[in-house]
Amino acid sequence: MAPAPAPAPAPVTSAGPDHATSDDVALDRALFVAILRAAYSGELAAALAYRGHWRSLWRAHRSDVRAEIRRIEAEEWHHRREVGKVLAEMGSGPQRWREVAMWSVGRFFGSLCFVGGWFGPIYAAGRLEGANVGQYEQAAVHARRAGLDHYLPGLALMTATEDRHERWFGNLIAQHPLLPLTSRLLGWRPPPPLDQTDPEGGLSDRRPDDLDGAGATADPAEEQRPDPSR
Ligand SMILES: [Fe+2]
Ligand SMILES: [Fe+2]
Repeated sequence: MAPAPAPAPAPVTSAGPDHATSDDVALDRALFVAILRAAYSGELAAALAYRGHWRSLWRAHRSDVRAEIRRIEAEEWHHRREVGKVLAEMGSGPQRWREVAMWSVGRFFGSLCFVGGWFGPIYAAGRLEGANVGQYEQAAVHARRAGLDHYLPGLALMTATEDRHERWFGNLIAQHPLLPLTSRLLGWRPPPPLDQTDPEGGLSDRRPDDLDGAGATADPAEEQRPDPSR
């Protein structure tokens, strides 16, 4: 069976780099960097929240769920490294205030998983993943307009992975009785489920070294703390 199709890229509404003025290109470059700076810190929050989540499932009957959330954590660390490389190439880097804020958010929600129920964290994760899809799609729009086409394949892979995460979390709560009311109040509802017969579960931009020790990073402690020098 074919993998779940990647979401369609957001439409480009400008005339494109061939017709753009230097001001247009500068604006798109600035917006591209701004989105990636937010994404870089957002990946930190997501990874820390998922780390707390899978660790809270130590008594879970469904060890497959725990293992998958651990794998997703590893993918968020991978995204963070990839986005960090792009930012460096663009002459930019993380924002310290955002790093501290997102580190706090990630640790808070990761801790909450130890005392909260099942539905809330999964719904929040699916909603977050949906936002991440839009974030990388929008980054691709600005990259294309700015003539930064060499970043498009990487952005497409990250978009596809976030889409797979969104569908996977959504599938876990698709039949939950709280979903209709929560979706009406908060807006997000799960997209159609993944193709369960796909051995990859959809596209992934994981690299083998990211999955060594499933969820581990080369230096997890270093990944957890924002760099105070930034
Ligand atoms: Fe991610
Ligand atoms: Fe994700």
